[in-house]
Amino acid sequence: SFEVELARTGATVTVEPGTSILDAVRTVCPDVLSSCEEGFCGTCETKVLAGKPIHADSILNEREREVSASMMICVGGCASRRLVLDL
Ligand code: FES
Repeated sequence: SFEVELARTGATVTVEPGTSILDAVRTVCPDVLSSCEEGFCGTCETKVLAGKPIHADSILNEREREVSASMMICVGGCASRRLVLDL
């Protein structure tokens, strides 16, 4: 598992294996936008402020994945212990 800090909301949620960041975020931010929830529509794209995302969407190109300014939180994961998102 890893932690996701929602910088604007001022909350931290734990993402357990087998659940998505989106699911965890929803517990404190019920209005977070999503649509396909499979990584191809881009609706859930969220700015990453800190941490190392693992990208699993089909939107970002290789360069964007490297820079990791944003991620699709319906499918992505985390390679560090903590991610900070602009939510
Ligand atoms: Fe479609 Fe995340 S909800 S990419």
